[in-house]
Amino acid sequence: MLREGQAKPTQRADYQAPAWWIDTVDLTFDLDPAKTRVLNRMRVRRNPDVPAKALRLDGDELNLARVMVNGEGCSFKMDGSALVLENLPTGEDPVELEIFTTCAPVKNTKLMGLYVSEGTFFTQCEAEGFRRITYFLDRPDVMAMYTVTLRADKAQFPVLLSNGNLVDSGELADNRHFAKWVDPHRKPCYLFALVAGQLVAREQRITSRGGKDHLLQVYVRPGDLEKTEHAMNSLMASVAWDEARFNLPLDLDRFMIVATSDFNMGAMENKGLNIFNTKYVLANQATATDVDYANIESVVGHEYFHNWTGNRITCRDWFQLSLKEGLTVFRDQEFSMDLAGTPSARAVKRIEDVRVLRTVQFAEDAGPMAHPVRPDSYLEINNFYTVTIYEKGAEVVRMMHTLVGREGFAKGMALYFERHDGHAVTCDDFAQAIADANPGSELSQRLEQFKRWYSQAGTPQVAASGVHDAAAQTYTLTLRQTCAPTPGQPEKLPFVIPVEVGLLTEGGQAQTVQLLDAAGMAGSPSASRLLVLTEAEQSFVFSGVSEAPVPSLLRGFTAPVALQFAYSEDALLTLLAQDSDAFNRWEAGQQLAQRIALGAINNPAVVVQANGEIAQDLLPAAFVEAMRSVLRHPTLDAAYKELVLSLPSESYLSEQLEMVDPQRVHAVREALRQQLAAALHGDWAWAWENHQDSGAYKPDPISSGRRALTGVALTMLCLDARRTGDAIWPGRAFQAFKDAANMTDRMAALSALVNSGHPLASDALARFHALFKTEALVLDKWFALQASATDRGGQILPAVKQLMKHPDFQLQNPNRARSVIFSFCSGNPGAFHRLDAAGYLFWSERVIELDAINPQVAARLARALDRWKKLAEPYRTAAREAIARVAARPDLSNDVREVVTRALAD
Ligand code: PHE
Ligand code: ZN
Repeated sequence: MLREGQAKPTQRADYQAPAWWIDTVDLTFDLDPAKTRVLNRMRVRRNPDVPAKALRLDGDELNLARVMVNGEGCSFKMDGSALVLENLPTGEDPVELEIFTTCAPVKNTKLMGLYVSEGTFFTQCEAEGFRRITYFLDRPDVMAMYTVTLRADKAQFPVLLSNGNLVDSGELADNRHFAKWVDPHRKPCYLFALVAGQLVAREQRITSRGGKDHLLQVYVRPGDLEKTEHAMNSLMASVAWDEARFNLPLDLDRFMIVATSDFNMGAMENKGLNIFNTKYVLANQATATDVDYANIESVVGHEYFHNWTGNRITCRDWFQLSLKEGLTVFRDQEFSMDLAGTPSARAVKRIEDVRVLRTVQFAEDAGPMAHPVRPDSYLEINNFYTVTIYEKGAEVVRMMHTLVGREGFAKGMALYFERHDGHAVTCDDFAQAIADANPGSELSQRLEQFKRWYSQAGTPQVAASGVHDAAAQTYTLTLRQTCAPTPGQPEKLPFVIPVEVGLLTEGGQAQTVQLLDAAGMAGSPSASRLLVLTEAEQSFVFSGVSEAPVPSLLRGFTAPVALQFAYSEDALLTLLAQDSDAFNRWEAGQQLAQRIALGAINNPAVVVQANGEIAQDLLPAAFVEAMRSVLRHPTLDAAYKELVLSLPSESYLSEQLEMVDPQRVHAVREALRQQLAAALHGDWAWAWENHQDSGAYKPDPISSGRRALTGVALTMLCLDARRTGDAIWPGRAFQAFKDAANMTDRMAALSALVNSGHPLASDALARFHALFKTEALVLDKWFALQASATDRGGQILPAVKQLMKHPDFQLQNPNRARSVIFSFCSGNPGAFHRLDAAGYLFWSERVIELDAINPQVAARLARALDRWKKLAEPYRTAAREAIARVAARPDLSNDVREVVTRALAD
């Protein structure tokens, strides 16, 4: 059977306003897992601003029983899966439409529309899931008022939730009951939600700054109530933060979060009824790590912030997705930074965010799925929930924030809401509001050019070079920008690139300097300046530069670009030791490590032995000493030290290479780790002993930083024990594993044993499984740890195949599938890229298998081979064959079809 075979791409340029509006929707659900009946009564009216057209309602996998117009039967036709009403009354009077359909939630393995997870009903409608619930104009610019009645068996489904306020509830015959909900806000259908099942709630009443009372609820399965405290605290902090920073209050009497263990994504911002993956709700110290706690805080914040940026103002069409996602990621990043508090903790958050951007988004921008922040076309919108839309989109908003300043940005946000509250708008509307609120700013002067960030894909490369004139005491910094072609975009025009710059002396002191304007007039003296690069090549002259400077460029990572400057090793060591900008200080260390790694990878004299190891010493003494100074530094935070001491990932290093031999990259990076473990042995031991936390568990930045540092120290000490045969540190790790008072420490110890390949690892893994066999999220960690463990001689793939036979493995559950399959295919390059191509074969089989169950999850997995063209032979040919094997299937979903077609295109 050809599935969705005829699908054509949707083009942004084809946007047309809808021919009909839907003003009100009244939905009645008779909930039954096998066959749910949906009665949809809508009041629709013609859009007087566009030529008259038939009403064409979207539907997908629905069984249609009846259609009535103004209370009477009517003619209709089916066009594919759409329901078309051609003979509706003319004129501007509203039309009452009644549509009766059924669907089968229990068979819904795509987890889009109405589905059942562990006996509870959930919905997921973004982007186009509402059409799987009823016939509708399933597009975000059609906003309606919703009334929803839920009817279900009272014992099986005691809790009945939908958006808005509960206005009525009561008993029905046959042990059934009902609840009626009215949402006081107009909304697009992608924000509709319902939940029905056996759930319990943690509740919290709050009073907002304006004096209004609200009820906050976090709904979970009965056993999970004690894991909801952190989510609730995060929600309260989110409400307070949006009021304080952006003057945006909670606009609902009641705000609910519900957790489900079957979810394609992280969470969903349905109006007043957020639905979350359990991974981003449930936490206690025994089951969740510090990283989980931090993720919960940021995802709870993210979904809550959507209530304004996304829900009150939504997207005109799905090409504008970054309007809500980029802005909301920016907001959740700022939220986490503001909560973190200290400058150092803010920098740690910024580094973590940039690391994701550079590792994953830069790779996306360089590969076959590269697309602008506002794409021009798509086959399947689900494929465009990407790091480009989210993370690069957030960087675009951050650049606006940088160009207009914190106050200016707040003014811009206020103007954005003043103009567009209650409407479905575009990325242009947002940028215009920020610019208009800041007349005279660099943003408003160059708005059209700035918006190339929305239209042009690809990561700009900025090459910097500097000339010091000792006699004139000037320093001329020249910046050149280029951007490589991306699919469909051979030529790029220059971007507006804000570059924060400071100049250090060779001894590492800040130099106070002045920037000369075009007329040669000196600006105000400062230690750091924001330059705005707008031309392909531009020079900036600083005066008062007495000493040949070490430039600190792109401080705080003010733009999503790849910056190159020919630093001497000494200059990088100076920046690492002294830069006042914490981001660039970290970056200098990364650049040093990257140079060493790339040097070794490209040096044919560096030989990988048959056992995969490298015998030569690759680390220069100066690098080791610099790392030692950071590790032993008296004032730097532990969290920051942990970031500096982590080598760039294999994926990141691979992106810096023209052609990638993944096994060589793996071998070199492992050798570097091994050598760093040996060279700093005493320092790692010191770090482990001196950063133990004995007090009550708190996931704050300081204590979690200490745990992160002890964790990496233990990993390094166990790694070194491989070389020396030492039994002490693996023994300590095993003891630490057994004694751990929290999941962060327990996981760190287990990971140290597993990743060093120590014989104690299997005992520890078995104990871990026995301890947590009823905790799904912890089992995910257990699976993921093994599937992403360090490969030494190809043992991981057979282990992964074994894991898939484990009784706890479930392909249908996205979290579990990700924990094994994605951890291996996307998270473990050293194990996945095998000379025998068995990793690729495994990948193709899983993509095909998953596609029959859940196309969205399958399409994400399909992207694991995006960068195949960069691979050296024989990997390249083998990877191509694997992709072709998937593409040859006649019955692929649009989701997977789009990914593999793009991957194979030249
Ligand atoms: N809109 C959700 C978010 O960013 C993500 C999501 C998209 C969830 C599609 C489910 C389906 O928070
Ligand atoms: Zn979002």
